Amino acid sequence: MATTEEAQTIDGGPPENPAPEVFRYYELAKKQEWQVRDMPWGVLPPIPETTGAKERVEKRRGIWRSVITQQLQADSLAVEMAAQLLEMARHQEAKLYYSTMAQDEARHVEAWLRLIGEAGGPTERDPHLDKLAQIFLGLDSLEEKVLLMQVFFERMIIPRFRLIARSAPGTVLADLCKRLTIDDGIHHSSGMAYERVLLRSASKKTKQQMIKGASRMLPIFVDHVLWRPKERDFITSAMRTHDLARVKAEVEDGIKIAASLGLDASEIEYHIPAA
Ligand SMILES: [Fe+2]
Ligand SMILES: [Fe+2]
Repeated sequence: MATTEEAQTIDGGPPENPAPEVFRYYELAKKQEWQVRDMPWGVLPPIPETTGAKERVEKRRGIWRSVITQQLQADSLAVEMAAQLLEMARHQEAKLYYSTMAQDEARHVEAWLRLIGEAGGPTERDPHLDKLAQIFLGLDSLEEKVLLMQVFFERMIIPRFRLIARSAPGTVLADLCKRLTIDDGIHHSSGMAYERVLLRSASKKTKQQMIKGASRMLPIFVDHVLWRPKERDFITSAMRTHDLARVKAEVEDGIKIAASLGLDASEIEYHIPAA
């Protein structure tokens, strides 16, 4: 195996701007790699079990099916994004890393597909997430894709996995969410590392374009965070104030991270609806 120093740069991946910090994430990802067959299938129930009247059992099951459907949708889109990053990366070290990320996202889809099968099948898709994905997939620059996908999106999804794992103890669903917390932690951190490498040589125009891309994404991101499928819509009004506070905190966090990367994030415009 090539050492960090030996790892060659390709496709204009400039030798004066190598990415050894990204190569370290490649090694970490290989060490953390797991298989869907390692999950506790048949040992633990797929989702929390409910007893009682048939209608109540079906309603609870519908909630869990909708939770799994949303994550299956997100990870299916992540496969496409990771494949684009693999193709567009300009450094050999980053390509190696993205080859592991593409496998991770495909494995996540495999696990969600098996889980949704065991839980009774998928429910409706989140239309805002589809819109968001179209924006992500249509971005021209690698710098923007890394920023929106890895720096923003993969970070925001981690607390959600923790929440699901806590709400579904002793299930295959919780086991999967714990694995994804670790994987997406690596995906986010590697994105931060690669973004720093890319920004070392990015033009002012590219940086401005990144801010514009983030501003365009934000309103749809807000819709996505505030949306619930009909199985969980009954809690939407009760959760409105909490949801708005959460989305505001997430957006402000994202802006702080962008600033820490040296982007002039004060120019990001966004609007959070009033309660
Ligand atoms: Fe994933
Ligand atoms: Fe991911």
